[in-house]
Amino acid sequence: MHAANKVTQCADDWIDIGALDEIPRQGARVVRRASGDIAVFRTLTDEVFALRDRCPHKGGPLSQGMVHGRNVSCPLHDWKIDIDTGIAVAPDEGCTARYPVRVEGGRVYLSLTPEERGSNGSS
Ligand code: FES
Repeated sequence: MHAANKVTQCADDWIDIGALDEIPRQGARVVRRASGDIAVFRTLTDEVFALRDRCPHKGGPLSQGMVHGRNVSCPLHDWKIDIDTGIAVAPDEGCTARYPVRVEGGRVYLSLTPEERGSNGSS
């Protein structure tokens, strides 16, 4: 049985960050990396999403915000960020990096390679 609560390295750049139940619903946990912290969010319906833990406004810690549906409210100035896309909800503008994440057997796996943004990001 593996009940370790540590981050363990898996194949490629996917890491096991722990059990889904260790992430509070409508909250997040932070995965600290030298390249920048990553916030892994859990929605009320147990979906998980991962974003760089930096608000596109002034770098606020999105992991400390409240998740409503698929948006997180930044704790600093209350911008809403879509946790599925990393894009700020209008009228605000900006985006933060998104990371692939998946749940298997009740455990959460995170890729450390940010996803390329599609054509819906504005520049
Ligand atoms: S830093 Fe997030 S809303 Fe200002």
